[in-house]
Amino acid sequence: MTDQDFPPSSEQPARAREIDTSVPQSARVWNYFLGGKDNYPVDRMVAEQAMRVFPQITEIARNDRGFLKRAVRHLAGELGIRQFLDIGTGLPTMDNTHEVAQRVAPESRVVYVDNDPLVLVHAQALLTSTPPGVTDYIEADLRQPDVIVAAAAETLDFDRPVAIMLLGILHYIPDYDEVCTILARLLDAVPSGSYLAVTHSTYDIGDEAVRKANADALAVWNENARVPLTPRSRQQVSGFFDGLELVEPGLVSMSRWRPEDTPFGEPSEVAGFAALARKP
Ligand SMILES: C[S@@+](CC[C@H](N)C(=O)[O-])C[C@H]1O[C@@H](n2cnc3c(N)ncnc32)[C@H](O)[C@@H]1O
Repeated sequence: MTDQDFPPSSEQPARAREIDTSVPQSARVWNYFLGGKDNYPVDRMVAEQAMRVFPQITEIARNDRGFLKRAVRHLAGELGIRQFLDIGTGLPTMDNTHEVAQRVAPESRVVYVDNDPLVLVHAQALLTSTPPGVTDYIEADLRQPDVIVAAAAETLDFDRPVAIMLLGILHYIPDYDEVCTILARLLDAVPSGSYLAVTHSTYDIGDEAVRKANADALAVWNENARVPLTPRSRQQVSGFFDGLELVEPGLVSMSRWRPEDTPFGEPSEVAGFAALARKP
C-alpha cells in the first residue's frame, strides 16, 4: 500500500485533504497495533520501531479493547446504562462501543468523539445503529469539554445516567491539572448514577525490564509524534477517580479487570491501568 492509495478519498475528499501523512497519529498507530490497515507508512514505521523495543505493546492494545468490551457489557448489563459518550474513539475495529452495548440493550444511545480527521472519514462504520438505538459522531477535542457536552446533548439526555469512556486518551494531555479540570467538567454535566471508564499508560506495572522497554517505546513515539504521550503513576491515575466510587476490582492492569474465566488462571498483567467508577 502507498500513500496514494489510502485513505478512501472518493468518499470525503474535503476531509481527506486535512489528513496529515507526514507525522504519526495515535489513532492510526493504534490501528496498526490492532492489526488494522487504516494507517500510513509513517505510522507503520513508528509502530514497528516501538514494537521492536517493547513487543508487549500490541498486547496492551488488545487488552485495552478487551477492557472496553467487558466494561461496556457490564455497564449495559448489570448496571443498566443506556447512554455512552466515547471520547477518543479511534478508528473503527471489532466490537466498537455501540456494537457491544446494543448487543446487550438495543436501545443504547452512543456518541463518539475524536479529533482525528481520519476517524471522521471512517465514522460511517460507527453509525450503523439500527432502531431503537442511536449512534452519533462529533469531531471535537477533549480539551473543549463544553463543546463536547453541548453537541452530545443533541443525542444524549444529560438528565439520565451516561457512561463517559476515556480509553487511551488522557495520556495525550500532558498537564495533570488540565486532565482533572476536563474530568470535573464532564462529570459535572452528568447526573448521579453515571460512570467514568478510563484506561491509561503507566510505568507502575511490570518489572524493571518492562519499565525500560516501555520507556524506550515511548521515546520512539515522543520523538516522532506531534502530541506526546505522558504515562502516569498509580497515584496520579487514582486521583482521576477522586469523589467517585470505584467498581470492583478497582484500578488494576487492563488485563485483570473482570477477566473472562479461562482454564489458564489469572491473565498476566500488561502495563496499562483500567478502572470504572460511579458518580455518587
Ligand atoms: C490510542 S487511541 C484509543 C482508541 C480507543 N479509545 C481505544 O481505546 O481503543 C487514542 C484516540 O484518542 C484520540 N485523541 C487523542 N487526543 C485527543 C483529543 N485531545 N481530543 C479528541 N480525541 C483525541 C486519537 O485521535 C485516537 O483516536
